[in-house]
Amino acid sequence: MSITETSPAPVGHNRQGQPEITFHDFLKTGPDTIGGKYLRSFWQPVCRGVDVPKGKAKPLKIMSEDFAIYRGENGKATMVEARCAHRGAKLSVGWVDGNNIKCAYHAWSYDQTGQCVKQPAEPRPFCDKVKIRVYPTQEYLGLVFAYLGDGEPPEFPRSPEFESDKYFTLVTTDIWPANYWTQLENAVDYAHTEFLHWHFHFKTPERIEVNERPYGVKVVVPGLSDTAIHYDTMYFVMPNTHEWAGPPGKDPSMGNFARSWRIPYDDESHIRFDYRVFPFGDKDDAAFTEKVLKQNPPRVIGKTGEASQKIIAGEMDFQMLKDDPSIGGASLTTIQDCTVMTSMGPMTTREHKEMLGQTDLAIAHLRRLWKIELTAFAAGKPLRDWKRPSSLWEALGPAPDA
Ligand code: FES
Ligand SMILES: [Fe+2]
Repeated sequence: MSITETSPAPVGHNRQGQPEITFHDFLKTGPDTIGGKYLRSFWQPVCRGVDVPKGKAKPLKIMSEDFAIYRGENGKATMVEARCAHRGAKLSVGWVDGNNIKCAYHAWSYDQTGQCVKQPAEPRPFCDKVKIRVYPTQEYLGLVFAYLGDGEPPEFPRSPEFESDKYFTLVTTDIWPANYWTQLENAVDYAHTEFLHWHFHFKTPERIEVNERPYGVKVVVPGLSDTAIHYDTMYFVMPNTHEWAGPPGKDPSMGNFARSWRIPYDDESHIRFDYRVFPFGDKDDAAFTEKVLKQNPPRVIGKTGEASQKIIAGEMDFQMLKDDPSIGGASLTTIQDCTVMTSMGPMTTREHKEMLGQTDLAIAHLRRLWKIELTAFAAGKPLRDWKRPSSLWEALGPAPDA
């Protein structure tokens, strides 16, 4: 993978003329940024499959760029550039016509390859000269993934443990008003779990093990949960995916495993996709399903961010949420995380000078890996071929090879 010669991204250079990547380059992900081009060189989830019903076009914003997505009669989710080639009306306000998308303004229609196939008001249609961009898509684990980069997409990355239909699963999404890097760093920061999430009843960590792996970074805090080791473990899969085990609270059957993707919506907010499996109960047992759904009510997009803003403004506090831990599907845990992240301020303009400690080792490691990768990417050099093994979680399958 490399950036193409025709689309260089602005990057600073050092005295030797080498591309000089700074932390700031991680944060901005518009189409002309180096961070944005890097993230676009991987398959990324763009929405849940259930949110694209047949026959309806919808707008999407990913990494500060607008798109339209629709599902035609043949069931294929098709993601296209945002605007009609004619006069630039948004295609998401148009119509789905069979397997085509039809612009609302003058009814130009495009097929699933982006080819214009109808221009009904043109006396001499010139459809064969008109084509819009269509992005490769693939549906997996209840999510629609797209490849938004240049050239051919890379091999689609799978996580076989999560494909099993043995378990009850939940696929959720939300948008939080914080730069995606705030969340990537929070994912590897296990020193906060005992304090911010007091209801986990975790222990003060004595040591944090940070190990680089062929997929990214493994973080273990032995003894953190004082129960099973999986609740002390986190896997960060490069470049923007992580996996963790959700602690069960008082009911051991509520323990769960999550694979999650954090995608910039724009430079100051991010979209969250979580795929969670609940392996410690019988998914065909109605009582178990009811329990899971009660503890994890459907999320209303934006509610976590809303509650967090109220806490930051001093209109609410965490203690109030403790008594009523569900607000529009937002949980106490997510509101706690979202609040501290958002309270740190816009990351791209943040002036706070950090003082990292021993417990921030994993954050420092993650920054180092990204800097190495982005520097190679900017120079057009080969990148590491990060690969998640077929098995990471012992509780979900055969012995883990991590
Ligand atoms: S702007 Fe789309 S058909 Fe005219
Ligand atoms: Fe957290």
